[in-house]
Amino acid sequence: VTGSVLVVGTGLIGTSIGLALDGHRRVLLADTDAGRLGVAVGRGAGEPWDGKVTAELAVVAVPPTKTAVVLTDLLRREVSEILTHVSSSQTQVQLDLDALGTQTATICGGHPLAGRETAGPDGATARLFEGRPWVACPLAGTSERAVAAVTELAAACGAEPMVMSPEAHDRAVAASSHLPQVVASALGARLLVADAAAVRVSGPGLQDTTRIAASDAGLWTEVLTANALQVAPLVAGLAEELRRVADALDVLAVSPGDAAAAQVLRDMLVRGNAGRALVPVKQGVLDRDVAVVAVRVPDEPGRLADLLVRAAAAGVNVEDIRVEHLAGRKTGVVELLVRSVHQASLAATLAGSGHEVLGGGG
Ligand SMILES: NC(=O)c1ccc[n+]([C@@H]2O[C@H](COP(=O)([O-])OP(=O)(O)OC[C@H]3O[C@@H](n4cnc5c(N)ncnc54)[C@H](O)[C@@H]3O)[C@@H](O)[C@H]2O)c1
Repeated sequence: VTGSVLVVGTGLIGTSIGLALDGHRRVLLADTDAGRLGVAVGRGAGEPWDGKVTAELAVVAVPPTKTAVVLTDLLRREVSEILTHVSSSQTQVQLDLDALGTQTATICGGHPLAGRETAGPDGATARLFEGRPWVACPLAGTSERAVAAVTELAAACGAEPMVMSPEAHDRAVAASSHLPQVVASALGARLLVADAAAVRVSGPGLQDTTRIAASDAGLWTEVLTANALQVAPLVAGLAEELRRVADALDVLAVSPGDAAAAQVLRDMLVRGNAGRALVPVKQGVLDRDVAVVAVRVPDEPGRLADLLVRAAAAGVNVEDIRVEHLAGRKTGVVELLVRSVHQASLAATLAGSGHEVLGGGG
């Protein structure tokens, strides 16, 4: 993509695309909600589209159920050479386009695996797609040129382009994105029936497992509906898993020494470890390859920066960083995620320079 890009739908994803392309492409913006368009323009995501100027690529970033209708309308008006969308369900858009009888040679679906809990242009950021997979999903009949335009757009936004069929994509995201959303939301929902004290005595575990439960209910109802065929058996499988655990716990509650029940629990936890180890911490880096160096840091200027400066001086790349604030205390715990081979030497370096390194990380 070297020419201008028309973004239709200036919500979280559309506005983030405009911000990510900043300076590299001329970006034209359209939204049926004038307020949202105004916010996106005000944030520097692009200029308002007059409805006439043509673009090289049109990116449709509207809710999934409206995607095919908007694509068809833009195609009919010949506003761009190539069209793409960002819907998290690819087969549904394909079926909708088929139903509308829309020609698909110049349309290639796409899905950036990026997002956050806040919808709308206010939550948009230029770095939303940095290092994330962005899957181009050619339809039957999509031209090579249209596929290339989507992978170029993905790369220009800082993402890692991939190509998959709509069916393979939908199967993959059912497991990696849609099932996690159901689990987090269900867990969040159960907190409403828990003892009020439960949330007060919570730690980072509850934060981590419920983070995406804050997602937009309207959008996710659409997403899960559109991919129901793929998601339903996964939710049923999870329910079976939970049923076995509930049964084992029922047994253990009355006979804590029951070896078979304990084995059911342990087996689930061990398989959980194995599954978790498959999850990339960031693109290309697996959890099992990284280790944690935890440091207690007083709430003083420059202390966090000093950790990073010393890691850099020791030639250690920090893959990720987590900060846990301790409620009501002027200290927090900073966890530096580094390649396992560097864990011991970095811990020693930091301890040697006066930092309070906590034991037992890993
Ligand atoms: N939020 C995520 O995490 C995420 C991640 C990847 C892909 N997606 C996909 O991106 C798309 C948009 O999601 P979002 O999170 O940006 O939603 P959003 O609600 O933030 O934005 C959607 C925007 O589309 C506008 N709109 C609705 N109908 C329109 C029409 N007919 N013409 C022009 N504008 C119209 C709305 O006014 C709104 O500003 C969806 O297809 C979603 O599946 C979302």
